[in-house]
Amino acid sequence: MINPYSIINATLDSVYHIRRNEMRKLVAYVYGCMGSPVKVGEQVFLTVMNVITNMMWGGAVDEAGRETLGAEFRGLVAEMMNLLGKPNVSDFYPGLARFDLQGVETHMHALMSRLDHTFEGIIGERRKEEGAEKRKDFLQFLLEFKDQNNDPKTPLTITHIKALLMDMVTGGTDTSSNTIEFAMAEIMKNPEVMKRVQEELEAVVGKDGIVEDSHIHKLSYLQAVMKETLRLHPVLPLLVPHCPSETTIVGGYTIPKGSRVFVNVWAIHRDPSIWENPLEFDPARFLGSKWDFSGNDFSYFPFGSGRRICAGIAMAERTVLYFLATLLHSFDWTIPQGENLDVSEKFGIILKKKTPLVIIPTPRLSNPDLYN
Ligand code: HEM
Repeated sequence: MINPYSIINATLDSVYHIRRNEMRKLVAYVYGCMGSPVKVGEQVFLTVMNVITNMMWGGAVDEAGRETLGAEFRGLVAEMMNLLGKPNVSDFYPGLARFDLQGVETHMHALMSRLDHTFEGIIGERRKEEGAEKRKDFLQFLLEFKDQNNDPKTPLTITHIKALLMDMVTGGTDTSSNTIEFAMAEIMKNPEVMKRVQEELEAVVGKDGIVEDSHIHKLSYLQAVMKETLRLHPVLPLLVPHCPSETTIVGGYTIPKGSRVFVNVWAIHRDPSIWENPLEFDPARFLGSKWDFSGNDFSYFPFGSGRRICAGIAMAERTVLYFLATLLHSFDWTIPQGENLDVSEKFGIILKKKTPLVIIPTPRLSNPDLYN
C-alpha cells in the first residue's frame, strides 16, 4: 500500500530548493540590517508567502512582481482573518442576517472578489504561457487534472482550483509566520532556552556551515520549542469552525446537526489539570513525551484532529523549524534599548502577537560568505 506520508515527504524534498533559495534571500536581507531593528514577523511572512506561491504557481511572476504580490496578499489575508474572527450579530440573530447590520458580509464579498481577481490573473497568465506543460507546480497539476478529468460526478472547475489555491495561501502563510514570531519572542524572553537552542545548533550544524533541511530531524530540542510554542500560542486558538452533518451527543451534550462548533484548544493547552506550570514556556516538557501533532490526544492538538486536521502539517514543521534554526544559527539577536519584550496575544480567528517583534541582529558566523 502507498504510504501518503512518504509521498508528502518526497514532494517536500523535491521543493527544498525553493525553501532554501527564499531563506538565503532572507538571511542576506537580515545581514544587510546588521545592528538595526528588524520586524521579524513581517520579513518571515514575506518569505513564507514567496515559498508557498512559488510552490503553487512557480515563477509565474518575476522578482519585482512577487514583492508586490506578497504585499498585496499579506493585506488581503490579514483583512480576511480579521473578518472571519469578527463577532457578527447575523450569526446570533439569523433573522437580521439579510440586513448585514455591521457590513461584515458586504466587506467579505468585496475581499473575495479582489482575491478572485488576483487568482483569475494568475490562471489566465498560465493558460497563455507557451511550454507551460513542462512546469511541475501545483497549479499546472490542477489545470492538467481538470482538463483530463471527464468524470461528471466529480468535476474539477476553475472555481475549485481558485479555492484550493486560496486555502493553501491563506492556510499556510499567517499560521507559519505567526508561529515563528511567537517562538522567536519566547526564545528571546528565555535566555536559557536560547542558549540550549544555539548549543544544539552548534553541535549539529557547526559554525562553518549553514543550516540545511537534512539537519532538521536531528534538532530535537528545537522540535520541542516548536511544540511548546504551539501549546502556549496555538495560532488557530479555536481551530477552524466545525459543523456536524448529523445530530450528535458529546459528553452528554446534544450538538444539533448544522451547529457551528468552536473547539477552544487555547484553553485546553493551558489547563492546569493537564499541564504542570501551564503558563511557563518550558520546551523540555516535550522531550521524549507522548505528545505529537497527530491530533490523537485531546490534551494537545494545535493542528486539529480527525478528517479535517490541517492539510499542511509536514510543510509547517519543515518551514517553522528550518526558519528558526537558520535565524538562530546565523544571528545573535538583541532587544532595542529601552524596549520591553512582550509576548502578549491579540485574540482572533488567528492568534497574533499584540505588538510586532522588533529585534536587532548581529552575525554569529565568522565567514561572511555564509551570508550570501
Ligand atoms: C504552524 C503552522 C500551521 C498551523 C498551526 C495550522 C493549524 C491548522 C488547524 C488548527 C486547522 C484546522 C483543523 C481542525 O479544525 O481540526 C488547519 C487546517 C488547514 N490547514 Fe493548517 N496550519 C498550519 C500550516 C499550514 C500550512 C503550511 C498549510 C498548507 C500550505 C496548511 C493548510 C491547511 C488547510 C488546507 C486546512 C483545511 C483542511 C480541511 O479543512 O480539510 N496549514 N490548520
